Amino acid sequence: MKLSGKSARSDALIGRMNLSEKLGQISMLADGLVETGPPGPHNPFNMIVDGRVGSLLNVWGAHLVREAQRKAVEESRLGVPLFFGLDVVHGHKSIHPVPIGEAGSFDRQLWEATARDSAIEAMADGVHMTFAPMIDVARDPRWGRIVETAGEDPLVNAEFGRARVRGYQAPDAQGLMRLAACAKHFCAYGAVLSGRDYAEADISWRALEEIYLPPFRACVDEGVAAIMPAFVDVAGVAMTAHKRLLRDMLRARWRFDGLIVSDYNAIAELINHGVAADLAEAAALALNAGVDIDMMSDAYFNGLPIALARGLVSMDDVDMAVRRVLNFKEQLGLFDDPYRNMAHKTAKSATSKPLAPERRALSRQAAQSSIVLLKNADGFLPLKAPRMLAVLGPLADSPNDQLGPWASAGAGEDAVTFVAGLRETFAQTDVRYAKGAPFEGRDEVDLEAARKTLAGADAIILCIGESRLMSGEAVSRTRPEVPEGQLELARTALESGAPVILAINSGRPLILPDWLVEGAQAILAAWHAGTEAGPALAQILSGACNPSARLAITWPRVTGQAPIFYGIRPTGRPHDPQNGWSTGFSDAPFDPRWSFGQGLSYTRFTRANLRVDRDTLGLDDLVSVSVDVTNAGVCDGVETVFLFSRDPVAQVTRPMLELHDFTKVALRQGETRTVVFVVKARDLCYLDEDRKPRLDDGAMQFHIGASARPADLDRIDVTIAQG
Ligand code: BGC
Repeated sequence: MKLSGKSARSDALIGRMNLSEKLGQISMLADGLVETGPPGPHNPFNMIVDGRVGSLLNVWGAHLVREAQRKAVEESRLGVPLFFGLDVVHGHKSIHPVPIGEAGSFDRQLWEATARDSAIEAMADGVHMTFAPMIDVARDPRWGRIVETAGEDPLVNAEFGRARVRGYQAPDAQGLMRLAACAKHFCAYGAVLSGRDYAEADISWRALEEIYLPPFRACVDEGVAAIMPAFVDVAGVAMTAHKRLLRDMLRARWRFDGLIVSDYNAIAELINHGVAADLAEAAALALNAGVDIDMMSDAYFNGLPIALARGLVSMDDVDMAVRRVLNFKEQLGLFDDPYRNMAHKTAKSATSKPLAPERRALSRQAAQSSIVLLKNADGFLPLKAPRMLAVLGPLADSPNDQLGPWASAGAGEDAVTFVAGLRETFAQTDVRYAKGAPFEGRDEVDLEAARKTLAGADAIILCIGESRLMSGEAVSRTRPEVPEGQLELARTALESGAPVILAINSGRPLILPDWLVEGAQAILAAWHAGTEAGPALAQILSGACNPSARLAITWPRVTGQAPIFYGIRPTGRPHDPQNGWSTGFSDAPFDPRWSFGQGLSYTRFTRANLRVDRDTLGLDDLVSVSVDVTNAGVCDGVETVFLFSRDPVAQVTRPMLELHDFTKVALRQGETRTVVFVVKARDLCYLDEDRKPRLDDGAMQFHIGASARPADLDRIDVTIAQG
């Protein structure tokens, strides 16, 4: 969006506004339908009439939105409409899998489709902006917000972000953007120290340039409407006040002309960061760095008048922020129709309706595409006509928990649980259920009930992991493990001798004990897969759906391996289990439990004929890297193919693998297809010590295959020769 330009309507309004009305436009306040930060002292509804607020968050639905909007346009002096924001992160009413799960579908079309559906639902509820996509590259499972990300890889986050922006912002019937996207959190929030939420991110410029900034650049190029700075400081500079990154990089170099919306209370928190003495200084720092909207901290409203008096900010800069907000409202069509697109034409008709069947179908497809099969010993799955199934665990029949954190307006009563899904799918089977253990603590562990339920079962489906409250914002965990009470239940299940299918529900990679991984017959990462998680899992277990998801994030074996990811740099003493003087750990293996990209299918794929169409490349050349993929197994299936590169000799140490592209290929049993990736030599450049892109003559490796695990990759080399 281009928001800084002149507009007759905006300029006329600015001309008529007093200071308080101007500051109102650039203040966003929260109502309390959901709590996403410390409650403020305000009652925002009462402030609308005074022009004291320009946008609201955490309010949706015809009744509330209409009433708030009516006050703004009919009762405030200038009648400027409000806009409404909400965290529509993985669905609005129809909830799709949490992003860390859906990222593992590696399906750009799906990422876009689920965003478009969320936009349709949210828009009908009066929402104009979603605080999504969240594209913080994250590599530490201790960090609770890893659940909201597309995982550890910059390219995956970039592609996920692009698809989400396209989906949310797709035009409606009038050609207007449905839901404005706000990419967050700019930047490096995923690098917080020890995975501790809100902590500092003390990272190098190289990490910023190579890992944390590219997803944001991609969203800006895709036309994202807004950006939210992160709560954190990067190398000592608080992001909410980061002139170099916000003004010089985002605005000037990348030409981003949309809105910059602060995070919740983040401007006032500059005082806690120790970079502002009072609210006036905090407000001045944020405004001067380019932040247009103050979310929830009152710093603009109460601090800017003082900052103006002290000469810390200029009225021109205030006016520019106001202009952007007004132009945004104008471009959304809110001046022409403040109630645009709301499904309910009157406040009274705001009854909740059943979810549209096509939205449910998409949620189910998304869940099926996100549940990762990690182990399937002896081809135990799919289940073959079981007579009796025992379902155990606190996540088996907990509709709210399967929706996961940040579930927007998702309602538990719309969700179909695993128990319900299994009963529907295995209609001829006796499906029994006992919870057996609570999420946390041991008080309600009931192993007797579990033993009774599993007696005589052909298989046990063990649904354990995290409740929705165990991941998300401010839920960092030093031990991202399955809690002890649930492990007792798991031991009981394994001791019974019946085959155990472990369905892990979580918002992060969980640490699993070796005995559980070895003892389970099959293991699936089911994440928090949303409204239709139950039927989706049941259909995977029955074989009606052949799993195709992969991990978008490495799963460690022990917490002490974190942060852990595939794109590490080589050391002078590469890991060698036979050599005590090599990199690694003395008390744990070096390799993860499961690598980025891992995930099984009920069929088997082979690769052959890896080739390039040229073996020498200049800087402006393109090269095609091709491989034939065959479905050599027992049923139809979908394979994901990753293309990595490695620069073995450069001026600086380069990562062991860098992802360049990925694709999915659907193959019938016995079918072969050629997968072709086209790579620009220029994209193989790295930044030298002067931060200039550079490519050295010599060998360049391509690694192509099913995951980042060395055993899953084939290699072919080309020569860079720039003449
Ligand atoms: C979170 C943001 C979110 C905002 C509004 C903050 O606490 O960090 O991601 O968009 O609240 O709910």
